[in-house]
Amino acid sequence: MLTPTPSREFHFTEQDFEKVRKLIYDYAGIALSPTKHDMVYGRLARRLRALGLTTFQQYLQILERGDSKEFELFTNSLTTNLTSLFRESHHFDVLRQHLQEHKSQGLFSIWCAASSTGEEPYSIAITACEAFDSLRPPVKIIATDLDTNVLETAKTAIYSGEEVQKLTPARVQRFFNKLPDGRYQVKQELRDMIVFRRLNLIEPNWMIRGPFDSIFCRNVMIYFDKPTQLKILQRFAPLLRGNGLLFVGHSENLYHANDLFKLKGKTVYELVSPSLGMPNGR
Ligand SMILES: C[S@@+](CC[C@H](N)C(=O)[O-])C[C@H]1O[C@@H](n2cnc3c(N)ncnc32)[C@H](O)[C@@H]1O
Repeated sequence: MLTPTPSREFHFTEQDFEKVRKLIYDYAGIALSPTKHDMVYGRLARRLRALGLTTFQQYLQILERGDSKEFELFTNSLTTNLTSLFRESHHFDVLRQHLQEHKSQGLFSIWCAASSTGEEPYSIAITACEAFDSLRPPVKIIATDLDTNVLETAKTAIYSGEEVQKLTPARVQRFFNKLPDGRYQVKQELRDMIVFRRLNLIEPNWMIRGPFDSIFCRNVMIYFDKPTQLKILQRFAPLLRGNGLLFVGHSENLYHANDLFKLKGKTVYELVSPSLGMPNGR
């Protein structure tokens, strides 16, 4: 017996779904699984409501006509932005050690390539402060993401009490100010270390310049297929310093790029040969 389709506010055909999949793949490299039909419906139905549309066909026509503002909102709706402070905390121990080992090298530059709502670059900034025992360490961070919405949240540097209180009281006191509404804001000194910018990892021209001592590109490659991942990894290698580190997410691996990167520790990679990157000296 066939299970009846639950009645929906908007008609969303398989063909509509396929068009959405193609649009987001071509634009952002995000390979949406065919099982994400309901998720896509739920996220985009909000856009139809906001625009007062009655069908997905009307919505797709707006996108296909090249409405850039709506395309941005469409993209923001389809990204998954899950993140947290000190997510995969072992990476920050490796970063701290790397900074301390190369302390004498001058200014460090770190790229956080899918920074979402900012918890990751602020965790990098906290780690840098701890490594140099200073609120003004010689470290600059460029934090980028495709999603303009999350970048706006990241710039505010405000996080819930629930999230911030997972850190040790000493860290909270040293790096955050408590706001009257119970939330916390990252201190200005740490915010000054970070520049936030929109950057699409599959764009042919990245408006970004190395060399970087570390690149964090965590939990975003999982949304890309292997050929897309490889193209990005080939562009990361020459932007890293010869002794630089590439941090990827817990479920990601770079076996398909083993001519470029070798495993150094748990999902931390280094260049196979320093000559693939930029010189170490400043
Ligand atoms: C799951 S979050 C990961 C956040 C953080 N790196 C972490 O590990 O906690 C994935 C992020 O990748 C971003 N993203 C997806 N496609 C992208 C692309 N083509 N270029 C840049 N960022 C992208 C999303 O907007 C989202 O904020």
